[in-house]
Amino acid sequence: MSYYHIKNLEQYFKHYNKSIREPRKFWGKIAEENFTWYQTWEKVMEFNMAEADIKWFLGAKVNIVKNCIDRHLSKRGSKTAIIFEPNDPSEEAQHITYNELHQRVCKMANVLREQGIKKGDRVCIYLPMIPELAITVLACARIGAIHSVVFAGFSASAVASRIDDSQCKMVITSDGAYRGNKSIELKSIVDEAIEKCPSVEKVLVAKRTHINITMKEGRDIWLQPLVDAASDNNVAEIMDAEDPLFILYTSGSTGKPKGMVHTTAGYMVQTAYSFKNVFNYEENDIHWCTADIGWITGHSYILYGPLLNGATTVIFEGVPSYPDFSRFWEVIEKHGVTQFYTAPTAIRALAKESLEYVQPYPLSSLKVIGSVGEPINEEAWHWYNDHVGGKRCPLVDTWWQTETGSIMISPLAFVTPTKPTYASLPLPGIQPVLMDEKRNEIEGNQVTGSLCIKFPWPSIARTIWGDHQRYKETYFSTFPGKYFTGDGALRDEVGYYRITGRVDDVIIVSGHNLGTAPIEDAINEHPAVAESAIVGFPHDIKGNALYGYIILKEIGETRDKNNVAKEINQLISDQIGPIAKLDKIQFVSGLPKTRSGKIMRRILRKIAEGDFSNFGDTTTLLNPEIVDEIKNGRV
Ligand code: WT7
Repeated sequence: MSYYHIKNLEQYFKHYNKSIREPRKFWGKIAEENFTWYQTWEKVMEFNMAEADIKWFLGAKVNIVKNCIDRHLSKRGSKTAIIFEPNDPSEEAQHITYNELHQRVCKMANVLREQGIKKGDRVCIYLPMIPELAITVLACARIGAIHSVVFAGFSASAVASRIDDSQCKMVITSDGAYRGNKSIELKSIVDEAIEKCPSVEKVLVAKRTHINITMKEGRDIWLQPLVDAASDNNVAEIMDAEDPLFILYTSGSTGKPKGMVHTTAGYMVQTAYSFKNVFNYEENDIHWCTADIGWITGHSYILYGPLLNGATTVIFEGVPSYPDFSRFWEVIEKHGVTQFYTAPTAIRALAKESLEYVQPYPLSSLKVIGSVGEPINEEAWHWYNDHVGGKRCPLVDTWWQTETGSIMISPLAFVTPTKPTYASLPLPGIQPVLMDEKRNEIEGNQVTGSLCIKFPWPSIARTIWGDHQRYKETYFSTFPGKYFTGDGALRDEVGYYRITGRVDDVIIVSGHNLGTAPIEDAINEHPAVAESAIVGFPHDIKGNALYGYIILKEIGETRDKNNVAKEINQLISDQIGPIAKLDKIQFVSGLPKTRSGKIMRRILRKIAEGDFSNFGDTTTLLNPEIVDEIKNGRV
């Protein structure tokens, strides 16, 4: 029996039980039967939760790109691997076959080696959603360089801190990026970023918007001439199963972003397996995930998961609102998309517009629709299901995280009955548990608690780059022996999970995971600001928006508050990116604090939401009188 493809609910339960009883046999068999290895493992897994030490497929040798491309060539060489759909609909789409992808990745891999990149070196990729982004990511993986893709919406200082943290030797970027009717000067952002990054020796620059940029002699090189001159003959690096594949930064509860490190074999096996089953991928399906490759969703379900399965994957450069709100539906029709995977924030934004944007498109090619990034509310779920899925496509609400590498809790299309707003059941190999405040596991159904996972899975991030202690503390110490997700969840009467949202200091805005601490750090740099606290509040389109409570210094009190507010948002925009700007700013004279000095965010959240009932026990506050002032001054 093969475990790779689950065909019905009965089989799901069978495989699930097997994966819990005998995880090593279960994953070992999947790994053995569906991938090519230079050498197989001595041991399927080894772990020590207390030390946050997890290893899979120990001793195995493999190259993920050989599995994504080379092994498909004999059967699928002339099949389209990547469809590139440009920002501007009048620019022609590109169809890149597996043969061509192989050739382009090999050339790029040779370019990287010629420019001095070796196995284990870190390469920062800061590119728009163009084919070069996919090709440079795969070229890094082919030669064992660790890619660190930074979303091309981050500001210069956010890029700098990410480059510096992992000491990248090279940055790959482009002159500029198109985004709807705007363009962004990426290269000049990189120039500013690396002024403070001595580790960067070279910057390779792709041409996209053809603007004038400055090229620094000896450091900056145009990419295309190097590629043209390179050979397409490239021998892939033989990687150990646990060699790092990539670093991807995610926000944390302190100012510094966490560089999550994913390793090679476990990530490969589970992204491929989850892609196959969640989306019920079949040969010749056209898969479109609208995320950016700068996020984990793009890594796992635009690139690695689909390519490992020999699929055709769409890379879309644009935005859902340009040239108008029918863009997504037009692209689905144009390319015959069968699986469409997007975020609740995009759905809510489109649902707000006239149905005339979607109704003219039959969307009959679609088989499965998916959601990711934050809880999908009931209204958005139904709009998506009715108007996009035509009530016939299963809607898979997929819960997972940058740290988990692959989808963890989700319906499997055509297997698991869906229920609006529920991520439903764990994938095989995943053991979710709910924990109460006393750190005990909550048994039974119809319960809520903090969501933990009590057994390792192959694609879990192995560490935080350069800071294993922080990895241990963040994920393995709140509930000893278990991985803590930071999310709250409920389990209904049949055991389905519904993710209710973060229980920590992370806020999800338009599907972007933002920590309160880095935003507060940025605000506190304003010379007039004494202290600040950020909370999230419900927002129709973004899911959550940011509300800032700000205490001004004396010098700030005499200034025009509107100007100060503008400057604060500009600072945030410069330091983190426009996605982290505050929707509302309230100037206050103090913040509610416990005697130990911890800000009571719970109270600030309730005020921001406009819910003045039931602030809970405020007697432990150092300054209970401040609550009324903040309440009365709510904006
Ligand atoms: C956080 C992880 C992994 C994909 C993109 C986000 C929230 C993600 C869902 C969902 C409810 C979800 C959680 C999670 N989240 N998917 N289907 N339902 N919440 O990755 O930036 O690492 O954020 O996104 O709060 O912890 P990320």
